[in-house]
Amino acid sequence: MGEKRMNDEMKPKAEVLPPRRRFFRKLWLVLGGVALAELAWVVVSFFTPRKEHRRGDKDTVTAAGRVDDFIPNSVTAFPRGAFYLVRLEDGGFLALSRRCTHLGCTVPWSDKERRFVCPCHSSVFDISGAVVSPPAPRALDLYRLWIENDSLFVDTGRPIKRAIFDKAQVVYRKKSGVNG
Ligand code: FES
Repeated sequence: MGEKRMNDEMKPKAEVLPPRRRFFRKLWLVLGGVALAELAWVVVSFFTPRKEHRRGDKDTVTAAGRVDDFIPNSVTAFPRGAFYLVRLEDGGFLALSRRCTHLGCTVPWSDKERRFVCPCHSSVFDISGAVVSPPAPRALDLYRLWIENDSLFVDTGRPIKRAIFDKAQVVYRKKSGVNG
């Protein structure tokens, strides 16, 4: 009899928590669940390939303006499209990416120096985007640019990589008013 009582006393009793502790326990469970769901979302988004813009998608095309809005030997920044519209001395156009080809910093245009100078590791590019001073390994990327009825359009959906500047990359206004 005495042994039975001792055994009963040794048995662990079910834990009865006060209401406040129960509330906090539930709160921690909910917060933990939310944190886990967020973590899962981050992991899934990291491994899901980003949808690529198709060339010519409406949301990647910028109507940059009329040809005559841009004077020769000028650089105009389009922050929303993240590109520079360059009009060369001979009247031809280029659309340049703002990303440095070294490690991807945004490269500002210096009107005073007439060059693009990367603030990260000092690469220098001329007005055509060609490398003047490394470590950038190649010219700034291009975007497809075309002229329709004297208006300029730039498609920033897909940057065009190039090693150097080539005259064939320049887009000119044709007398017919259409260029491609
Ligand atoms: Fe431009 Fe390094 S990122 S020089």
